[in-house]
Amino acid sequence: MKTLIKNATVVTPSETLVTSVLTENSKIVAIDAAVQVAADEVVDAKGKHLIPGVIDDQVHFREPGLTHKEDLRHASRACAKGGVTSFLEMPNTIPNAVTVERLHEKLALASTRSLVNYGFYIGATPDNVSELQQAQRTPGIKIFIGSSTGDLLVDEQAALERIFAETTLPITAHCEDETTVRANKQEFADTQDVADHSRIRNHEAAMIATRRAIDLAKRHQHRFHVLHVSTGAETELFGDHADLITAEVCPHHLFFHVEDYARLGTRVQMNPSIKTRADNEQLWQALLDGAIQVIATDHAPHTLEEKQQAYPASPSGLPAVENSLALLLNQVNQGHCTLEQVVSWMCDAPARVWDIVDKGRIEVGYDADLVLVDLEREQTIRDADQETKSKWSPWDGETLRGWPVETWVMGQRVYRDGTFFDARQGSEIQFDHARGGYWRNP
Ligand code: DOR
Repeated sequence: MKTLIKNATVVTPSETLVTSVLTENSKIVAIDAAVQVAADEVVDAKGKHLIPGVIDDQVHFREPGLTHKEDLRHASRACAKGGVTSFLEMPNTIPNAVTVERLHEKLALASTRSLVNYGFYIGATPDNVSELQQAQRTPGIKIFIGSSTGDLLVDEQAALERIFAETTLPITAHCEDETTVRANKQEFADTQDVADHSRIRNHEAAMIATRRAIDLAKRHQHRFHVLHVSTGAETELFGDHADLITAEVCPHHLFFHVEDYARLGTRVQMNPSIKTRADNEQLWQALLDGAIQVIATDHAPHTLEEKQQAYPASPSGLPAVENSLALLLNQVNQGHCTLEQVVSWMCDAPARVWDIVDKGRIEVGYDADLVLVDLEREQTIRDADQETKSKWSPWDGETLRGWPVETWVMGQRVYRDGTFFDARQGSEIQFDHARGGYWRNP
């Protein structure tokens, strides 16, 4: 099957230019192909931009075990609509993905249920080092250094030292200090005010845990990725360690701050908590400066019914995969960043951080995971229009300019302008960790 996408403004690693892209089966086979080339299908993309599919390296799709909140089918449709062609999913499903067997069960599930490409982290526990050592077919090891949704937690120093010393896969972590959070919970024991969530999971909790994890990574010279950075102060810890330590930020930590609790209540309750307007600005600056390399969503749906319980019974987390790219395209339209930067943060950098083979770029030989975006399209996010099973968005009512309109996964169209091509199937993402230093030598 050959597809020619012609007249698009194509974002390649070296330049952005109006040209054509030819795909054959799952691969990009030519850029600037002659427009007369024989193809089974020709797409005239005049006026639109073609970018690599987004790779979201932090999602919670809840299958198995929590499928009343979300499942692979709904979530991967949401991805296709949002321009996300690959996801890396977290281990706090039920049962937790903390053994090789469980990891393989999740891969098998996704192989029949996901419309887009998939990969799954293996979770760390205080005593599963041998599983972490044996695991393959995974981007890496996820540690909850502070607890969040579910019961995964590794907080004792000896256990953390062991994981960093005795495993080789890249490690990533949820960094909020458990001791600090527990002490703050005591102090706010009687609260029903969701704004106290940011006083309980405060700046200090994030800073202590991130500093601790970076110290482990440096002493053990172990590749480490900091998930969902929420404070400006943390970004000062990354500085000159980009070869060893990478970091990411989520749209909610870029665009929401504590004053939004009054408007949005528990819809903006998540872990780490939202912080101040100054933190939003510092996080944005860290992206622009390169101290943070990746944008991911931490898509973590709960039902609206669950979210509407009074704090602290309300669970933490929000859905985001179908709006993350549009939120950033809107920033491009507002002049706050370029489309090339968005491609770097959401497509290219995650591929290199996780040693993903042949993804994240529009280049000959790379996988044909492609997204056509219309930078002029204006659309309002509405709860009722959401594909996520939880059917709500914290951005409900917001109008954004710049939207994905068509998505291909491994050369197959999975979404076009409101229509899903549901019979299609994503592929297992390939990781080449042996290539080590991929991030350093792209
Ligand atoms: O708010 C969050 N929700 N943060 C996490 O780290 C986990 C997630 C979830 O799984 O609900």
